Amino acid sequence: MDRHSILMWVALLLALVGTLLTLSGDVIFNFIMAKELRLTPTSAVYSVWQKTPMPLTVELYFFNWTNPDELMNEGFRPNLIEMGPYRFKEFLEKTNVTWNTNRTITFRRLRRWYFDGENSNGTLDDSVTTLNPVALSAAYVSRFRSSFIQYTLSSTLLMTGQKVWVTRTVREFMFDGYSDPLLTVATKFPHVTQSRFTADKFAWFYKRNDSSEHEGVFNVDTGEEDTSTIGVLRAWNFKNRSDSFEANCGEIKGSVGDLFPPGQKKDKPLQMFSADFCKSIQFDYSEETEVLGIPGYVYAGSKSIMDNGTADPDTWCNCGGECVPQGVLNISACRYGAPGFVSYPHFLDADPIFSQKIKGMSPNPEKHRMYVTLEPTTGIPLDVAGRFQINLLLQPSRSISLYNDVPTVLFPIMWFEESVRITPELAGKLKLLLALPAIGLFFSVGLILLGLVVLAVATVPRALRNMQWRLLRHRKEKVATRRRYQVSFLNENSRPLVAAAGPTHEDADVK
Ligand SMILES: *[C@@H]1O[C@H](CO)[C@@H](O)[C@H](O)[C@H]1NC(C)=O
Ligand SMILES: *[C@@H]1O[C@H](CO)[C@@H](O)[C@H](O)[C@H]1NC(C)=O
Ligand SMILES: *[C@@H]1O[C@H](CO)[C@@H](O)[C@H](O)[C@H]1NC(C)=O
Ligand SMILES: *[C@@H]1O[C@H](CO)[C@@H](O)[C@H](O)[C@H]1NC(C)=O
Ligand SMILES: *[C@@H]1O[C@H](CO)[C@@H](O)[C@H](O)[C@H]1NC(C)=O
Ligand SMILES: *[C@@H]1O[C@H](CO)[C@@H](O)[C@H](O)[C@H]1NC(C)=O
Ligand SMILES: *[C@@H]1O[C@H](CO)[C@@H](O)[C@H](O)[C@H]1NC(C)=O
Ligand SMILES: *[C@@H]1O[C@H](CO)[C@@H](O)[C@H](O)[C@H]1NC(C)=O
Repeated sequence: MDRHSILMWVALLLALVGTLLTLSGDVIFNFIMAKELRLTPTSAVYSVWQKTPMPLTVELYFFNWTNPDELMNEGFRPNLIEMGPYRFKEFLEKTNVTWNTNRTITFRRLRRWYFDGENSNGTLDDSVTTLNPVALSAAYVSRFRSSFIQYTLSSTLLMTGQKVWVTRTVREFMFDGYSDPLLTVATKFPHVTQSRFTADKFAWFYKRNDSSEHEGVFNVDTGEEDTSTIGVLRAWNFKNRSDSFEANCGEIKGSVGDLFPPGQKKDKPLQMFSADFCKSIQFDYSEETEVLGIPGYVYAGSKSIMDNGTADPDTWCNCGGECVPQGVLNISACRYGAPGFVSYPHFLDADPIFSQKIKGMSPNPEKHRMYVTLEPTTGIPLDVAGRFQINLLLQPSRSISLYNDVPTVLFPIMWFEESVRITPELAGKLKLLLALPAIGLFFSVGLILLGLVVLAVATVPRALRNMQWRLLRHRKEKVATRRRYQVSFLNENSRPLVAAAGPTHEDADVK
């Protein structure tokens, strides 16, 4: 093969590959994306998933109860003052990771919290006055037990000097815990108290720091077969539903909050499982935004999470017993029977009946709503803020003397924000991934252009040479004919000239 035909083939090949790439760019992009987003031991997403590279930020706000001495007054309303934020850095990792043959992965979650005093408004030694959670829970749990048990509990509460409120430090309420004589009794006589809650101390996050024992075992789809199932929770604690809620409210749906399938749509709400609520909760598309230059969809916590069946009839099963007005979810089945209720902070979006019974609530959607911002093509979270408030139900009890005359109030204890935002470094990588289709298009169009150039290189010089050669020949022919003509002209006329000049001496010599 000569140089020319090799070049022709190369040109053809380049143009062909370029055209194929242009046509199949999406397929190739989706292939690369799926490969990197699936949970496999080597995928890009796995290392980030296994150990979150940046710390999450946790902010806690306590409600300090400033007028407990007015509790028995007519028309009593607790006065609550928000304290905080107490900010922590949270490091999250997945432990006890097992790859299963059914394309799922089983794991636990381990969190470590470090207090960030510089960015906190207060110290862990601040003292807070709030409802006494231990006595209140004991009274609530035993409310349907025999009058003997209730009588025993009532006198135990009095003997151990329990009050309706308790004052402790933030440190004790959060992680360190404080001893309570009731807990000692409960651990000593588990048969009498029939309590599943057995701990020597009480704290909202007691023994949860640096431990993987508290959120349960998650079984999540790796998405190997179908990218639309990436990160979907298949089982929690080895069951495909939550025992804390009946019917569809106990169904385990959606992600665990860190992996979402690619190709998110605005009209498809997000489902996410929350171990704090023991149920899956829904997020509805709210608006578009941009995080570090990456466009994203904001999904906000749905009203249906805290609905009692009024706005959405499917949520009737949220009640788990008596219903409460809208805006509050009863999670007592998820909290060893304690009278725990979650709402958005400051009773945002809740029935005003709750905040009317207390002083100090000031809901603000900017500060208190819960949202998830996803990059829609890849489903990668850009900005997440989980926010909720823990409330305890204070209500009168005829048989427990400590609670004989208390009013019925859903009492805010604290609220909680856990947030994380993509780092500039990860955002750069994500931008590169998102730019791949454009880069691919440039590349494939470039190949086509290169093909054209090679074609030009292969054909133009030869064509030029041909043309030159033809021109040259043409000119040569012209020259040749002119010369022939000239020569013949010369030949015809030379002799007479010569003759006319007469014989030269050379001629003469020859002659
Ligand atoms: C909380 O309220 C109590 C009164 O109930 C008060 O003595 C205490 O100083 C308050 N704590 C803070 C940190 O403001
Ligand atoms: C800090 O906390 C106090 C109450 O403890 C509050 O009055 C103040 O506004 C808070 N400051 C900030 C910046 O949040
Ligand atoms: C999880 O792994 C840790 C060590 O990495 C081990 O101590 C613990 O027992 C494991 N937990 C379970 C439930 O397997
Ligand atoms: C997959 O297998 C694991 C381990 O055998 C099991 O725990 C899990 O429930 C299974 N998941 C599904 C969706 O079948
Ligand atoms: C949590 O545990 C880590 C490691 O054990 C420890 O360094 C840190 O101080 C603990 N955080 C809190 C708030 O107790
Ligand atoms: C949940 O598990 C039960 C048995 O444990 C099974 O009968 C049922 O089909 C499962 N449901 C789903 C949606 O996988
Ligand atoms: C909350 O749920 C528990 C357990 O499901 C139930 O017994 C109780 O009646 C409910 N309480 C209220 C006030 O709805
Ligand atoms: C549900 O909430 C609405 C609005 O807060 C309230 O009027 C209604 O009584 C509640 N339903 C039940 C069954 O309690």
